[in-house]
Parts: sequence; C-alpha cells; structure tokens
Amino acid sequence: MVAITADEISTLTKYVYALCGVALDASKTYLLESRFKPLLSKYGLSSYMELYQKAVADKSGEMEKDIVSAITTNETLFFRDNSPFEVFKHKILPDIIDARSKMYAGRPIPIRIWSAACSTGQEVYSIAIALIETLGRLDRYQISILGTDISDEAIAKASYGKYNKFEIERGLPMNVLHRYFTSTGDGWRIKDEIRAMAVFKKFNLMKPFTGLGRFDVVFCRNVAIYFTPQDKRAVFEKIAGVLEPDGALIIGSTESLSGVTTMFEPRRYMRAVFYQLAGTPRPAAMSTPSALSQPPAFSAPPSPRPVSPPRPSVTGASRPAAAPPRGAPASVGPRPPAQKASPSPPPSPGVTTAMRQPTPPLPREPETVAVSTPAPASVEQEAAARPAPPRRQAPPPPTRRLPPQGPPADKVALKKLLMQKKAAKKAGAA
Ligand SMILES: C[S@@+](CC[C@H](N)C(=O)[O-])C[C@H]1O[C@@H](n2cnc3c(N)ncnc32)[C@H](O)[C@@H]1O
Repeated sequence: MVAITADEISTLTKYVYALCGVALDASKTYLLESRFKPLLSKYGLSSYMELYQKAVADKSGEMEKDIVSAITTNETLFFRDNSPFEVFKHKILPDIIDARSKMYAGRPIPIRIWSAACSTGQEVYSIAIALIETLGRLDRYQISILGTDISDEAIAKASYGKYNKFEIERGLPMNVLHRYFTSTGDGWRIKDEIRAMAVFKKFNLMKPFTGLGRFDVVFCRNVAIYFTPQDKRAVFEKIAGVLEPDGALIIGSTESLSGVTTMFEPRRYMRAVFYQLAGTPRPAAMSTPSALSQPPAFSAPPSPRPVSPPRPSVTGASRPAAAPPRGAPASVGPRPPAQKASPSPPPSPGVTTAMRQPTPPLPREPETVAVSTPAPASVEQEAAARPAPPRRQAPPPPTRRLPPQGPPADKVALKKLLMQKKAAKKAGAA
C-alpha cells in the first residue's frame, strides 16, 4: 500500500473540506488512505499528491465526484433509529395537517419534506412509506419529498431505488418489504408509486440554500457530525431559513442543537426529540403529545399555530393562491371519522400528488407505536373500532372516572316522594 505523507494528508484534508465541508484531521490518516487507495488504482496514479493534482486539473469534474463519493460516509438504513419516524407519523404530520386543513379546505394539502443528506435513499423511502401508512389516501395531499446528497454515487443509487438483501434486512419489516418493494432476483427495488413521490438531486449543504423553496419537515440526520462547529451552525441556520414557521426539523438521534444555534428549540415527544423554530407558539403541553396523536392518558388540546402563506416549490407545484393570513387558527372543528388506510399505495403521477377531493382526516394513532408499519387490515380495524373524539377535547385520563350520569340526588328523592303520595292517594280512594 502506498503510504500517505504528512504533506499529502494536509493537502487532501484541505481539499476535501473545500469540496464538501467534511472536516478531517490527522487522526483520519487511515480513512484518507483506505478511501483514496482505490482511486490511485482506478486512475493509475502512484501517490496521493498525484491524485490531488490530477483532480484539481480535471475539468470534467469526474475525479472530484469520485473523491467526494469516496470520502463521504454513506452509512444509512431504513427507518433508522425508529423514533424519528414515530414522531413524524404521530406528532409532526398530524400537527401540520391540522394546521393546514382549514386553509386548504377542499383542496390538496401541500406537504413538503426534505431529506437533506439522504445518502442512498433509505431515509427518503422510509419517509414515503411512513406518509402512506399514516395518511392512507395520498391523492388528497400534494406530497413532495426532496432527497439531496453531495455524493453522485449515493444519489444515483437512491434514485434507482434498488437494494441488496443486506440493505433490505437493515430496518425493513417483512410486511413493509413485500408491500412496497418488488423482488428483482438479486435484490429488491422500490415500487414505482413510492419512487414517484420523491425527487433526488445532488446538493452541497455548504452552499447557499437558494431555490429550494420552503419545507414543512426537514430531516438532516447524521451529516452535521462531519462538519466544523461553525459549518454545523451555518447549515442549521440555513435550514431555519427554509423551514415553514410551524415546520419541524429532525436531526440524528445522537445529535443535539444545544450549543450549536439558538434558532431552534427542542420539542420532546415520547422518546424522541424534534426541533422547531425558536419562538414558534407551542401547543399546550408540547412535551406531551397532541390530542390527535397520542393515547388518551397524555392528551392535551393543542393551541392554534400560525400558518404560512403560499411559497415557491422545487417541483414547480405551487401552493394555492388564496391562503389565509399568518396567524390564522388551526382547524378546531370536531374530528371527522377516521379514514381507512388503503391496502396498497395509490399510484402517484409524479413528485407531487394533486388532490381533487376534500381533505380526509388522519387515521388515528394505532395503539402500538412500533415503527414496523401495521398491516392495512389492522389499521382499518383500528379506524373502525375507535370512534374519533371531538378534535380539540382532551379525553379524561383513564384513571379519572366521570361522575355517574343521571338526575341529581335531590330530584330523585322528590320524584320518589311524589310517587309515594300518588300511591297513598290511590289507596285512600280505593
Ligand atoms: C451517514 S450519511 C446519513 C444518511 C441519512 N441521513 C441517515 O441518517 O441515515 C451522511 C451523508 O451525508 C452526505 N454529505 C456529506 N457531506 C455533505 C454535504 N456537504 N452536503 C450534502 N451531503 C453531504 C454524505 O454523502 C452521506 O451520504
């Protein structure tokens, strides 16, 4: 193996940083060596300095792409860490739909999601599957999921949506696999209708976020760990700039924004944490789940949140023009009956799914909160079995019993007395 020199380490770490913001130090010598060695063979080079010089001189940009793909860590899996997808399904999505359903009455509700370092696509497809499993009929929403990553290789794989046995076995429950993937013999490929929900693009988080539009939810997980503290802060503050005022940011389970930026505040939901823009009005008892999405014992009525005006879209699908002003209250009407989840995902015409029907209610949260998605039958049973409670009313905790219903005790006594009198009268008359 060609040994890397101190000079080459210094040159290549600076070059890598300039390309993608990945901050390597001398302790990453082995990483540089092992990741770039295959490129020496590929380009017939005899040293790492030669690799650098050739890459800088390469006008086609191909070597640069190879270097970025080689140095970035694309480790990912389906439904990684589970809890972010639980909070997405049972808290973030219901809150967004509640807030939007009134302003988009009868029109498709736009939901824009960005997976900001999506690697080979597992995060994007997990989001798409979570959406289908939660919303059922997607034709009532205008869904767009943007998956971006700096690695061309990763984006190409994500876009193709094919995974081998090992990748599939990491995080995908069998029933979900069979519902949303097709066997290709040597692997599994995501079904067209799920693939069509997403757009994949190469995007460097170090660059300005212009032209992306705004998002309701941003997943930026397990990427900022590779950045310097300053770059980390800059990335999250740029995300703040593209997030809807009531949108949500999900970061990696081992990451925190504490000490990184004050633009976000953490919100706790069950075992998970997500972030919202600092100063975003917090639904009552935000640290506990909303009435819509949480088992009754912890329910609390959420308060109205500001909604945002129409915004530009990456996909070209714009939001309806007539949006209520900022600060318009969220839907507070009674909750319509729960909707059945469709047994198989509806075909999606493109990145966005246009709706021509009134907005359906969200299916209520299943009793269990396991990420492994429930079979359609159990979702239907769940929907059928539980009548939906009025929307903004928190049901009483199970331990608190309601007083017995019926007339007050003094009324009962009076009625008894009257009946006794009547009976006595009758007896006297006889
Ligand atoms: C460990 S993966 C995380 C994938 C996924 N978000 C997850 O949590 O499973 C990190 C990804 O960040 C990407 N990445 C690194 N630097 C980046 C940058 N400057 N801009 C965009 N993506 C970047 C890498 O290519 C890699 O695919």
